Amino acid sequence: MESKINLENKITIEISNLSFKYPSTRKISSFDQGAKGFKEVLHEISFIVSEGEKVSLIGPNGAGKSTLLLNIAGLQEIKHRKGQIKICGTELNDKNIYGIREKIGFVFQDPNDQLFSTSVFDDVAFGLINYLNKKRDPRAKDIKFIEGRVKESLAKVNLKNVENEMPYFLSFGEKKLAAFATVLSYDPEILILDEPSSNLDPSNRDNFIVLLKRFDKTIIVATHDLDLAYDFSERAIVLNGGRIVFDGNAREVLKDKDFLNANNLALPLMFRKYNDIPN
Ligand SMILES: Nc1ncnc2c1ncn2[C@@H]1O[C@H](COP(=O)(O)OP(=O)(O)OP(=O)(O)O)[C@@H](O)[C@H]1O
Ligand SMILES: [Mg+2]
Repeated sequence: MESKINLENKITIEISNLSFKYPSTRKISSFDQGAKGFKEVLHEISFIVSEGEKVSLIGPNGAGKSTLLLNIAGLQEIKHRKGQIKICGTELNDKNIYGIREKIGFVFQDPNDQLFSTSVFDDVAFGLINYLNKKRDPRAKDIKFIEGRVKESLAKVNLKNVENEMPYFLSFGEKKLAAFATVLSYDPEILILDEPSSNLDPSNRDNFIVLLKRFDKTIIVATHDLDLAYDFSERAIVLNGGRIVFDGNAREVLKDKDFLNANNLALPLMFRKYNDIPN
C-alpha cells in the first residue's frame, strides 16, 4: 500500500482528456450563421510527466504548444477547457490556482510578457520575494540574501553587468536570458519553457542546454530547435492540429524524416544532408 502512494507522488503533471477553445478572434459576418464564436485549439490531450522527467514539446506553428503550456501553468481561463489537469497530485481549479502556480516556473515565448520592472535586478528579485513571502520565509526581507540569489541567477544564465539596466532596452536574446533568471531565482519544482533558445547566440545556447541538463527537476520545453530537443530530452511529445500525434522516445522520432515531414517538421540540423534542404 505504501509503495503505491510513493509511486503516485512521483507523478508531477497529469493531463486527462484536455480540450481547450479560445473565444474566436474571427470577424463573424452577419451572413455567417454557422459561426460558433470559439476556436477549438486542443483536442483530448492526455499524458503524464513523472518527477524529474525532461520532455520536449514539438510541433509546427499553431499546433497548440503554447496554449497547452499556458493551461498547465494555470494561465488560461479554466472555463474554456474540458478535462483535468493535476499538478503534484492536486487538480488545478479556480480556487487553488495561485497555490499551484508557485510550484511552476514559467518562461513565456515572448520575454516582453515576463519583464515589467524598471531594472533587471527588480524583475529577478520580484518572483523570488513573492515566492518567499507566500512561504512565510523570513529571507523575503533579507536584502543580502535576495541580492546574492539575484546575482547567482543572472550569473547562471551568463548575463553580466545588466542588473541596473531597464529590461525594455535589452536585446531580445538578453531578455530571454533575464526571463529565465527570474524563474531560476526561486528554484521551482517544475520548469515550463516556451521557445527558450530562440535568439540565443551559440555560446549562450550551449550554456543554456548545460543548465537544463543539470536542473534535476521536471522540465517541459516547447521548441522548434529540434537539435536542442534531441540533446536535452529523452522524451518528445509531438502536437499537430491540437492533438498528440506522438509521445515517446525523442531520439527515435527526431531521426524519423518521414514522420517529421508528414507533420510539417524537419530533421534536426545535425542529421540533415545537403539534399534534405528544399530548393
Ligand atoms: N489568445 C488567442 N486567441 C485566439 N486564438 C489564439 C490565441 N492564442 C493562440 N490562438 C490560436 O491557437 C492556435 C494555437 O496557437 P499556439 O500559440 O498555442 O501555437 P504554437 O504551437 O505555440 O505555435 P508557435 O510554434 O507559432 O509558437 C493558433 O491557431 C492560434 O491562432
Ligand atoms: Mg508557441
